[in-house]
Amino acid sequence: MIKTVPTTPFEGQKPGTSGLRKKVSVFQQPRYLDNFVQAIMDSLEGTAGQTLVLGGDGRFYNREAIQIVIRMAAAKGFGRIVVGRGGILSTPAASNTIRKLGAYGGVILSASHNPGGPDGDFGIKYNIGNGGPAPEKITDAIHARTLTVDRLVYVDTPDIDLNALGDFPVGEAIVSVIDPVADYQVLMESLFDFDRIRALFASGFRMRFDAMSAVTGPYATAILEGALGAAPGTVINGTPLPDFGGHHPDPNLVHAKDLYDLAMSPDGPDLCAASDGDGDRNLIIGKGQFVTPSDSVAILAANAHLAKGYAGGIAGVARSMPTSAAADRVAKAKGIAIYETPTGWKFFGNLLDAGLVTICGEESAGTGSDHVREKDGLWAVLLWLDILATRRQSVAEIVREHWATYGRNYYSRHDYEEVEAAGANAMVTELRAKLPGLKGQRFGGLEIADADDFAYHDPVDGSDSRNQGIRILFTEGSRLIFRLSGTGTAGATLRVYVDRYVADAAQHGLDTQEALSDLIALSHEIGGIERHTGRKTPSVIT
Ligand code: G6P
Ligand code: ZN
Repeated sequence: MIKTVPTTPFEGQKPGTSGLRKKVSVFQQPRYLDNFVQAIMDSLEGTAGQTLVLGGDGRFYNREAIQIVIRMAAAKGFGRIVVGRGGILSTPAASNTIRKLGAYGGVILSASHNPGGPDGDFGIKYNIGNGGPAPEKITDAIHARTLTVDRLVYVDTPDIDLNALGDFPVGEAIVSVIDPVADYQVLMESLFDFDRIRALFASGFRMRFDAMSAVTGPYATAILEGALGAAPGTVINGTPLPDFGGHHPDPNLVHAKDLYDLAMSPDGPDLCAASDGDGDRNLIIGKGQFVTPSDSVAILAANAHLAKGYAGGIAGVARSMPTSAAADRVAKAKGIAIYETPTGWKFFGNLLDAGLVTICGEESAGTGSDHVREKDGLWAVLLWLDILATRRQSVAEIVREHWATYGRNYYSRHDYEEVEAAGANAMVTELRAKLPGLKGQRFGGLEIADADDFAYHDPVDGSDSRNQGIRILFTEGSRLIFRLSGTGTAGATLRVYVDRYVADAAQHGLDTQEALSDLIALSHEIGGIERHTGRKTPSVIT
């Protein structure tokens, strides 16, 4: 029943921040996905009889890809391949299922928040047995194998029906099609007080959750409207569509503008929230109050003990380097550890496994905890709900009180999307060369205290990751960070992150872009952004 087909390598199959991500048309080339899956399989040892979890965000090409992975995983000798019905598993649900079943690992098919459909993006990543994204050692090995792969090995079988629950034999393996929501819902019930949140909704609290026609629809509908009694219609765009209804499933102020406008209207809901293509990102907007992802992780860390899953307190907090330092203030006040990691959820895995941190977050709208090894959009929404249900204050009140207690980090990210890679790379090279001379330089009222290219030493496995972003640190505590995105699929995306700490509560009501204007102007001067990219202004500001 085994079929072996010769192949030759494709260039460019190097996993980025979160797996291999390319245009659908690239993945549709004969043998392209197969080569990468074979490289994953060839990099794994001791898989005989083990369990592999498999699912995706339902985007275009998901179902075809699932069939390919099933045939190759069965040929590899996996004993059980657990697939979400319809090929659906949100990224955090996949992480949970891997952990719950004690699986060997998982394959997740998603390009996260990138657009879908035949002209959109597709992606694939491998997660290890702790439920988290494979560390660089493994993704490097997979990449190395893509350069030499010479044969593809499949179990020769017709397509599996992904719509029916149950067990089906494929060669020597069993494919188990499971309900994608059930186990995840049980996990959420173990962390949060569903009765308390139900009482909040019963008291007239109104919410709108935009699933963006992506994977969280079934999860949000079952949990918010089903288990928690939120009014029917609370979840919008709740059916996963292969092209996400033509929308860009990135829950930010640009792509969820309608939701933002609703939250800002005087009779809008008490809470507006959204999640991305694969369900790991979150957007939180209270009535009249957007919560930046960096503030959200700080506020969740400060209040997590109110939820039963974290009642014993949290061990520590981790944030990615470009994320604002708001969480650092909370950690300091609580006397717990704060870790600063490179961009990419995979860097949190070791810290979580070692019990060094409980809550993690990134400026890119990811927040999560040690309940899984991925960020988790719906989890963040439920933790917010549990906090709101306990404190019985509005989102705006909670945010303002938080700033009054800890100070406010004004924070913004300016993205220059799809610029020419050569210019972007030249800019980074030039900045790197400038670094040693920057220390001590003054620009108006700003003085540079330090400047470096961020490097991370993992305290658990001792590995080092270098060149993770240019940091310019000012004596007043502000930061300017330049970094190239690792998730784009066209050209290069330059990200400029701007962070300013203001302790004085009288200064907490300013417009963010105004509060940061001198730093933003300086980013152009120091970076030579226009000279290198041809752009005067960013394409997206978040
Ligand atoms: C994905 C990763 C995140 C990361 C984000 C932004 O969502 O899972 O960990 O923060 O991409 O990455 P980028 O390289 O585009 O800034
Ligand atoms: Zn995502």
